Amino acid sequence: MKKILVIGAAGQIGTELVPFLRKLYGESNVVASDIRDDVPPVLKDGPYEIIDCLDGKRLAEVAKAHGIDTVYNLAALLSAVAEAKPQLAWKVNMGGLLNILEVARELDFAVFTPSSIGAFGPSSPKQDTPQDTIQRPTSIYGVTKVAGELLCDYYFARFGVDTRGVRYPGIISNTAKPGGGTTDYAVHIYYDALQHKHYTCNLQPGTYLDMMYMPDATRAAVEMMEADPDRLVHRNCFNVAAMSFAPEHICAEICKHVHGFEMGYSIDPVRQAIADSWPDRMDDSAAREEWGWQHEYDLPSMTKDMLTTLKGRL
Ligand code: SER
Repeated sequence: MKKILVIGAAGQIGTELVPFLRKLYGESNVVASDIRDDVPPVLKDGPYEIIDCLDGKRLAEVAKAHGIDTVYNLAALLSAVAEAKPQLAWKVNMGGLLNILEVARELDFAVFTPSSIGAFGPSSPKQDTPQDTIQRPTSIYGVTKVAGELLCDYYFARFGVDTRGVRYPGIISNTAKPGGGTTDYAVHIYYDALQHKHYTCNLQPGTYLDMMYMPDATRAAVEMMEADPDRLVHRNCFNVAAMSFAPEHICAEICKHVHGFEMGYSIDPVRQAIADSWPDRMDDSAAREEWGWQHEYDLPSMTKDMLTTLKGRL
């Protein structure tokens, strides 16, 4: 029986990954945790613990007390906020990861750590960005993601810790909003379309980025951790893709459903520079070959689902 701990569970991914995992493995077998007590109520539908990922001692206590065999490590600063606080980004993204890997080595649990399209940089091929290619990111977020990928592979090779991960595209969801990323516009646009029929986009037209709908993102994490290790040539981390679009394409898709919706532009130079350094579209054939990754949602089906779900809620 799996015993899972999700660290940094109160963010955009965790608030949907925790209920998804609890449905699969049973409520009492999935412990949610974050740095504070004031978290989305859904996290407290099962066991909940306060853990600061920088406190390895506390992490070890909780993992031991619950007999944890798998950790999903979601504690991280996203790209735009990391650029504003680079030292803190290093501390949380790398310090937290190192603590988790050390405890994993000691207690022998598996670790899922997401990487990102941000692990690539301006010298990586922009089209069909390969699984294995040059990775020289220019954002501090990307620097921590590449270093994290290497550290996870090192802990597997050196200590046999079962580390795995995927390079997520921008993730679009309708429960918790993302905090401080470059791809956030593709979430906020749906809220503003329904509430104001107008959205001001902070990225330029023509800025292509990989994106993924949350149901695919949570399933990717679980399937990665359930994958047969004998089939894995790679571990940290797999490109996973679903759709690639620029702001004008998501706008056009929303216009099909929201009559009179309009989008304007007010460019954020920090986010634009980050987005310009990232791939337009990743090649995820390694994930498809090694563990059968397959996305379900494209831009039209995601847009339909986002608008229907949000309409009911707003
Ligand atoms: N969504 C993240 C960001 O924009 C990328 O991994 O920072």
